[in-house]
Amino acid sequence: MAPDAVPRLRLSSPEINRVLGGGLVPGSLTLIAGDPGIGKSTLLLRLAADVSGSDGNTLYVCGEESASQIKMRADRLGISGDGLYVLPSTDLDHVLRCLEETKPSLAVVDSIQTLYDQTLASGAGTIAQVRECTRRLIAWAKEHGVPMVLSGHVTKGGDIAGPRVLEHMVDAVLYMEGDPISSWRLLRAVKNRFGSTNEVGVLEMTGRGLIDVEDPSRAFLSERRDNAIGSVIVATMEGTRPLLAEIQALTTPSSLPTPRRVATGLDLNRLLLVCAVLTRRVGMRLADQDIVVNVAGGLRISEPAADLGLALALASSVRNAPVEGSAAAVGEVGLSGEVRRVPQIGRRVQEVGRLGVQRCLVPGSAMDECRDVDDVQPIPVETLAEAIQICVPRGKRAQPAVF
Ligand code: TYD
Ligand code: MG
Repeated sequence: MAPDAVPRLRLSSPEINRVLGGGLVPGSLTLIAGDPGIGKSTLLLRLAADVSGSDGNTLYVCGEESASQIKMRADRLGISGDGLYVLPSTDLDHVLRCLEETKPSLAVVDSIQTLYDQTLASGAGTIAQVRECTRRLIAWAKEHGVPMVLSGHVTKGGDIAGPRVLEHMVDAVLYMEGDPISSWRLLRAVKNRFGSTNEVGVLEMTGRGLIDVEDPSRAFLSERRDNAIGSVIVATMEGTRPLLAEIQALTTPSSLPTPRRVATGLDLNRLLLVCAVLTRRVGMRLADQDIVVNVAGGLRISEPAADLGLALALASSVRNAPVEGSAAAVGEVGLSGEVRRVPQIGRRVQEVGRLGVQRCLVPGSAMDECRDVDDVQPIPVETLAEAIQICVPRGKRAQPAVF
């Protein structure tokens, strides 16, 4: 069946609906995975509240917290609790009995690692338990056509309860990501039998729970200062939509025999590649510099499309001069110093224009994709050296501050 032909339980959050492919599908199992403390329980309670009330009722199984803790959280989120039944239990048989009795419109299990099946010898949270409990929940959900949402902690190695046992069993897996010290949370579909994968929802953790971020690009750039040294705007694709982000770089003379390279929110290998190209193809002296790069707001970018922006941020820091005209940049950097095209350039550049940035460097080979963009001037570049000459010309180097 085509994904849009499936009936769905729509939720109040457009961002969550977007990641799910339109809403929760009856009888489906969705796993919300993430680090402890990232906001899974907050999200589950919001989903539960969405479905409770006039639409129906929800059974919220909590193995991790007491009913009074859930009540406190619900009060904080402004949830009334009509039609929301909280079941503090870790015994799977008991949970299934309660499901039979309540026949809810939605069942939530927080978390799957706390449930146990008495017939198995191993303890709760072991792979055997997690697999068996999930199997029995799936069987119940499919039989009764009730959607279920489970939460699962991710271990240090990035697995959910062992070697990705659960991912194969459930219909959809959404990862909740974000830097715990920042308030942005990304909900990323890594598997979805009823929608597109790699769709991303952007939420913000506030004092009153998770709220939708209506204009993520604007939010991610909100604290950027114009003319900041070492700062460049890049346009990445998150699923089907372009998102703008700010890359920051800082280079400082190192006192270490092997200078440090630290990347937060970017792949360290991409940083090393860009540094190597800057050194060999542009002649920039980086060997005696410690280098720190960061994506503002706790975002993570894994696309080579950010290479050009990263290189310009480094050049801006080394030359101690802001990028001229606060330009944005899109493009992959190749080992011979060429700037290569990346997918969806037109849409990325359009997003740059929408947010009022007037210039955007693009790979020369992709200029044909930029014909229809408004409010922004695409500047074609063939090589990294050329891009640096345009954005951070050598003569502009500011004097180092004297203290
Ligand atoms: P929680 O949903 O308990 O995370 P998880 O279930 O993934 O372990 O929430 C974690 C953090 O979110 C917690 O440190 C407190 C914070 N928080 C808010 O900032 N605002 C809120 O409204 C709520 C409920 C939690
Ligand atoms: Mg929790």
